[in-house]
Amino acid sequence: MTWNPNLVLNYLWLRAGFFYFYRPIREEIMMSIFIGGAWPYANGSLHLGHISSLLPGDILARYYRMKGEQVLYVSGSDCNGTPITIKAKQEGLTAKDIADRYHQEFEDCFSKLGFSYDIYTRTDTEHHHQIVQEIFLELLDNGLLFKKEIDQSYCEHDQQFLPDRYVEGICPRCGANARGDQCDQCSSVLEPLDLLERKCKICGTSPVTRQTEHFYFSLSAFQNSLETYVQDAEQRKLWRSNALSLTKRYLQEGLQDRAVSRDLPNGVSVPVAGYEGKKIYVWIEAVSGYYSASKLWAKETGQHDTAFWGAETTSYYVHGKDNIPFHSIIWPAILAGCGKESLPTHIVSNEYLTLEKKKLSTSRNLAVWIPDLVSRYDPDTIRYFLTINAPENRDADFSWKEFIYSHNSELLGAYGNLVNRTLKFIEKSFDGNIPVKEVRTEIVEKIDRLYNESGRRIESANFKQALEHIFEVVRFTNRYFDEQQPWKQVHDDSNNCEQTLADCVFIIGNLANILSPFLPFSSGKVRAMLNIKDVSWSRVKIKPYQKLMNVEPLFERIDPERINEELNRLKKQSN
Ligand code: MF3
Ligand code: ZN
Repeated sequence: MTWNPNLVLNYLWLRAGFFYFYRPIREEIMMSIFIGGAWPYANGSLHLGHISSLLPGDILARYYRMKGEQVLYVSGSDCNGTPITIKAKQEGLTAKDIADRYHQEFEDCFSKLGFSYDIYTRTDTEHHHQIVQEIFLELLDNGLLFKKEIDQSYCEHDQQFLPDRYVEGICPRCGANARGDQCDQCSSVLEPLDLLERKCKICGTSPVTRQTEHFYFSLSAFQNSLETYVQDAEQRKLWRSNALSLTKRYLQEGLQDRAVSRDLPNGVSVPVAGYEGKKIYVWIEAVSGYYSASKLWAKETGQHDTAFWGAETTSYYVHGKDNIPFHSIIWPAILAGCGKESLPTHIVSNEYLTLEKKKLSTSRNLAVWIPDLVSRYDPDTIRYFLTINAPENRDADFSWKEFIYSHNSELLGAYGNLVNRTLKFIEKSFDGNIPVKEVRTEIVEKIDRLYNESGRRIESANFKQALEHIFEVVRFTNRYFDEQQPWKQVHDDSNNCEQTLADCVFIIGNLANILSPFLPFSSGKVRAMLNIKDVSWSRVKIKPYQKLMNVEPLFERIDPERINEELNRLKKQSN
């Protein structure tokens, strides 16, 4: 048999056409969203400041998953670096002991608060070390690392070099007390030798200066490309303003090459013969955790992580303002230096959260510790307050009074009450059967707008605004219920009564949907009561002839007496 070339061509043409038209459309428009939450140092418990700056990551992850995008949300415990070694030395334990203790505690706190990381790992794994060494070698191969003989602080009493936070002293720029790696007061990035009146963190004596050899990263080589990159972020309004202004300041001052190895006992060894005793600087190593964690996730789940490191990837990096330069300069430079195109797109860097108008101080124990907080308060109460009162563009304050008031008057008073009064009424007057009515068009439109507008605000990292906006609809619905007076309608206008309740239940079901990135626990309860199964960022309909499942209050009232109890507790614990 011979082939008719025309038929073959026709056949191929049809096949190609078939594939062209039947390619799954969803895949074409699905976005890859990478979310990196900052890695807390495993040298002490988490406090409110950590959660306040990390929570946006979870809101984003939950939101984009609901939208059906491909999401990878990663973080882990930062187990290397001076904070852990110092703590270990103080307690007479190994760095591993300390890291194990806090890593476990972190996992427990994050899970109780509903953080939905796709992977939460740690930086003292074999896997992480290997990936970081590969990155180091790649930068070396690409001519971006060089060796240099430098002066360093050395403690003769402890017989060791004193990098980073091993030295404390006075910031040469602003005169505040500062650590050897940075000044929290003026946000300057420092080297220990920059500090005035240097002291060894371990023993308090003044260090001497000694020569040692280190690897340097040619950050200055990225001056021009980072300028363009930051201009683009500014034009597209992708970064928080604190990240923009600080990064522009560094660029104006001119990027300096930075030492990227340290004479330290633990951490990731420099993978170069003769230098194995030195460790890779924690800031190169820790930020590389975003990449190593995504590789680990791929390995553990049998999926690919390449979609999260391409030019088309949308990424959000979520942290407090002291972490800005590491995410807006160092990490982009490392990525670019390794030929990766996925530089951070969004930088979500919160300002600080003060506590009762005072600066949080872990050393003076002036802090609200998360293990303690989650043992006594509903996670949604914490998530609500930390979002509605987030230090997004300026510092914000946590006060016990505001915390408890916001729970009682907004979460419980407005939202919980709306759900409870509506559903209880249906239980009582309709035997739990949700009235079947076409929901009023204005209400359907209002909800559609709410999806769009709050979604837009979440995507642009304006979480507080998004939540405020959603709560306006909560208040609107309470007013609607009050005006319609279903408790009267039920006697003299049963048709309108059913309408009111159908409208309110429709809003409640959709509010639970829209609130689930913010308040996943109470949203889950509402959805269970209404038997809503599908999770998506779009209007849900209540199934016709749906009966309510056990109606229970969403929140409990907190006795305002607790305010004084908490204030006393804080006073007693701090010094
Ligand atoms: N451990 C650092 C800190 O608490 C943060 C590291 S974020 C990282 O300041 F992603 F860069 F690792
Ligand atoms: Zn010393």
